[in-house]
Amino acid sequence: MKVTARAHTNIALVKYWGKKDQQLIIPQTDSLSLTLDKFYTDTTVEFQPELKHDQLVVDGQVFAPKQMKKVTRVLDRVRELSNQTLYASVNSTNHVPMAAGLASSASAFAALALSASRSAGLTLSGRDLSRLARRGSGSATRSVFGGLVEWHAGHDDQSSYAEPIMENVGFDIEMLAILIDTKQKKISSRGGMQSSVETSPFYPAWREVVAHDMVAMKQAIQNHDIDQIGHLAEENAMRMHALTLSADPDYTYFDGGTIQAMNLIKGLRNQGVNCYYTMDAGPNVKVIYNQRDRERIINALAPSFGVNNLVVAQPGPGAHLL
Ligand code: PMV
Repeated sequence: MKVTARAHTNIALVKYWGKKDQQLIIPQTDSLSLTLDKFYTDTTVEFQPELKHDQLVVDGQVFAPKQMKKVTRVLDRVRELSNQTLYASVNSTNHVPMAAGLASSASAFAALALSASRSAGLTLSGRDLSRLARRGSGSATRSVFGGLVEWHAGHDDQSSYAEPIMENVGFDIEMLAILIDTKQKKISSRGGMQSSVETSPFYPAWREVVAHDMVAMKQAIQNHDIDQIGHLAEENAMRMHALTLSADPDYTYFDGGTIQAMNLIKGLRNQGVNCYYTMDAGPNVKVIYNQRDRERIINALAPSFGVNNLVVAQPGPGAHLL
């Protein structure tokens, strides 16, 4: 059966940075994110008797078997769950700049988990789908659901899954992505986070930060308190990025444009506009704010980054079939 699914990216408000289990992608800590409407991946999967190996095409580009290990890992798990041995053809279209810290792997593996499992005749629960997506990429665990989503770290395959906190976000939170550099990132999140776990002396403190932030963030969400959500998200992101600067060898995902954007946002805040920044494994900056302040924020950022590089996103839906 040929099946197409769509999944949207998510941006973490409390970040995931470090694994306990590399193979199963069991994270060191819980995390919490917002799924966005603007960036998504459409993936079509078909298991076919005539194929000699899995095939992957992403945005028209054919991948060699060696380049598609993560995809194969998800497909292997689907074969295991569905008790069959057929290979699959996977065709994926990203509506996200790839590997630029806009979490294309999140939407990609959530879309793959849904399309591949359905194509193999499986109807998985949201929880089981998130466990399957996790095999491809950690952040994909959360993209199975829409709105505000929590990933329970757990300690094994069974206990590490995502769960929606608020699928329909009933308040005016918005996220604006500043596209600073959409080229492929130099340090993968996989390599980066592993080096932070192994070499940053701050890693034990990070675990405590996340434990605190998960509680505080959920409270802020229940209160619909966008300022508090933004404040906590910014603080959490900076503490995550401190794990890159404090690793050996040290590294950073920021570039000049990232710092410039941070300063502009702080400037706006000094003028009384409540907006906050967050960054992932790339230089692009995401701004968190209340919808009503959108125009002032765009007007302040456009002269430096160009209005075409500012993408306004709102809470988006979970993975679904097309
Ligand atoms: O799962 P990955 O490899 O896409 O890693 C995601 C890491 C961050 O985006 C930086 C944080 C997060 O929680 O999404």
